[in-house]
Amino acid sequence: MTKLEKNICKFTKIFSVNSERESFSSTFGIIVATAGSAIGLGNIWRFPYVTGENGGGAFLLIYLLFVFGIGVPVMLSEMIIGRKAGANALGAFKKLVPGSLWWLIGLMGVVAAFIILAFYSTVAGWTLHYVSLSLSGNLFADDYAAQFENFKNSNISPVIWHIVFMILTCAIVIAGVKKGIEKYTKILMPLLVLFIILICVRSITLPGASKGLSFLFSPDFSKLSGNSILAALGQAFFSLSIGMGTIITYASYIRKKENLLKISSSVAVADFLVAILAGIMIFPAVFAFNYEPASGPGLVFITLPRIFEQIPAGEIFAVIFFLLLTIAALTSSISVLEVVVAFFIEELKIKRRSATISAGIAITILGLFCTLSWSNLKNIYINVGSSTEMGETKQMFFFDMMEFTAANVLLPLGGLLIVIFVGWILKKNSAVNELSSEGTITSKFFNALFFIIKFIAPVAIAFVFLNGIGLIGDW
Ligand code: TRP
Repeated sequence: MTKLEKNICKFTKIFSVNSERESFSSTFGIIVATAGSAIGLGNIWRFPYVTGENGGGAFLLIYLLFVFGIGVPVMLSEMIIGRKAGANALGAFKKLVPGSLWWLIGLMGVVAAFIILAFYSTVAGWTLHYVSLSLSGNLFADDYAAQFENFKNSNISPVIWHIVFMILTCAIVIAGVKKGIEKYTKILMPLLVLFIILICVRSITLPGASKGLSFLFSPDFSKLSGNSILAALGQAFFSLSIGMGTIITYASYIRKKENLLKISSSVAVADFLVAILAGIMIFPAVFAFNYEPASGPGLVFITLPRIFEQIPAGEIFAVIFFLLLTIAALTSSISVLEVVVAFFIEELKIKRRSATISAGIAITILGLFCTLSWSNLKNIYINVGSSTEMGETKQMFFFDMMEFTAANVLLPLGGLLIVIFVGWILKKNSAVNELSSEGTITSKFFNALFFIIKFIAPVAIAFVFLNGIGLIGDW
């Protein structure tokens, strides 16, 4: 066995049926596992469409600030909690402050996991549908917006793909991630990035592409509202997989001597770069083909086929691309489900198999409500003000409500409570001790980081949150 294989073996055991507590054996293994969770539909599907809805460049700048200024400190806080306690998201708080109510943060994380996976698996189902469309040679159409709408508004095909994706997610979580899957993930994720780069090249060489690049890279701050700043925070949390206990769970398997700051910043940089690449892939094409950047969750699905059409052997390219995207979605969805399953196993004493099946069924049912949001359940909606200049109202369906609640409410609230916990309950000595691996790692940033965790991050998150939901101030 090579060293790499041994590392893969070690890190895959975290999901295995054997509940003995393992630890990652290499920094590389941890970074791959955490980056696998972070990089997913959040970067490629969600980032472009949320950026498109919120005006482009200025949103990107705020997003950048939030990923590194708030996201990394929140991720570090989760790592401190997880590694110190060595337990699941809920158990960690019980262990660190027995007899208090802080475990409620963990419970909130479990609820968030249900909601996130419900809409995530809907979108992953769409991705699977696009695999099958391109496989069967039916991808290319005259009107990609209509093609996507017709599919999304029907009530059979999206349901089937949603269920297929949930079965795949559950199967991996039950079986434990086998050596092979991880081994291939290490090859497939870089391959996905390579594909994105190739599509970027095609996209930016389309006539009229420069408008898209300037939409993405030249900030127009007049387009920002309290709402869009909250959307940037929510997107940063969603994309980094923070605010609901995924990182707490993963960090409980990290060895004491590992450098948490190095791990979290590497993951944040990788995650950010993939999102930017996705933006460079999508926006030039959006403007070249005269699509509307604020097209919502369908943006990627209507833009990509149109780009594939312009690439030699585009249909084959499309099959591989959507397959890789499905795999990226799977390495993220298993990390969401694992939060629930680890909680069921360790706190409710349910066996892994039954825990996964019961959680899987419950999430699939909640997910059906998301999947059917535009067909059988299209009567469930609320009217909200639109972010477009027209100021017309737009409808928020069940899917959108779940997505909004998770990304813009539960994750920021979870993140807020997590930094308050580390800054004010764990206290500096304990937190810095964990950060510095008991003093063996020194960094001039630790004091500054703790200051951010204790004062700046809580105030910033609280402000952005209250402002975003309209409770304070107006821009
Ligand atoms: N970050 C993943 C993505 O970008 C999704 C995800 C995985 C997630 N685990 C999470 C989101 C935990 C929020 C919380 O696709």
